[in-house]
Amino acid sequence: MKRQQDHYTRKAQSMGYPARSVFKLEEIDRKFSVLAKGPVLDLGAAPGSWSLYCLKHAKGPVYGVDLQEVSITAPGYTFIQGDIFDPGLQERLTSAAPYTTILSDAAPSTTGNRTVDTARSYQLVESIIHFSFPLLSRGGNLVLKVFQGGDERDLFDLLVRRFDKAKIFKPQASRDESFEVFFVAKGYTG
Ligand SMILES: C[S@@+](CC[C@H](N)C(=O)[O-])C[C@H]1O[C@@H](n2cnc3c(N)ncnc32)[C@H](O)[C@@H]1O
Repeated sequence: MKRQQDHYTRKAQSMGYPARSVFKLEEIDRKFSVLAKGPVLDLGAAPGSWSLYCLKHAKGPVYGVDLQEVSITAPGYTFIQGDIFDPGLQERLTSAAPYTTILSDAAPSTTGNRTVDTARSYQLVESIIHFSFPLLSRGGNLVLKVFQGGDERDLFDLLVRRFDKAKIFKPQASRDESFEVFFVAKGYTG
């Protein structure tokens, strides 16, 4: 069944963003100021709302990665199409590191079975955490989307140990029926 357009979808379109997800990042950034000065890496960037937001609000180059294409051509934007875990792609991302902020709105393909979907999300986020740590600047920030299923607390604890501050945040722009939350970690201590 086709989902009806909601207030956030219409607002995103009127502002030139391809997806309503931009308002989740906007809320996160307003509350936690995650876009510090320096390069930003946007993992799971398609269709491109978060990358566009970063191009407007971050003070530094923006790198986006996704399996799907992103059609942004703007100075300061580099998009790499492919799997985050492809070794060649990781080499390219590593050569542009360190990043002041790493964002991941990446989501696994969902089945509708919450147990399966949260397990896939857990695996994806765990891998992204381990990939991101060596690429982050000291003092850098990390934002990760994760599906709540119970075990995500273990992943959050990985962040608590390596950042000055870490919070679990559910933006108002997340759909009511969604079980996604965001880990927002600031001040990477290495
Ligand atoms: C919810 S969308 C991201 C929306 C984006 N933040 C925006 O504002 O336009 C999640 C994206 O994660 C991407 N993704 C999931 N797993 C990935 C992987 N292993 N490598 C690259 N992209 C991945 C999907 O292709 C999908 O486009």
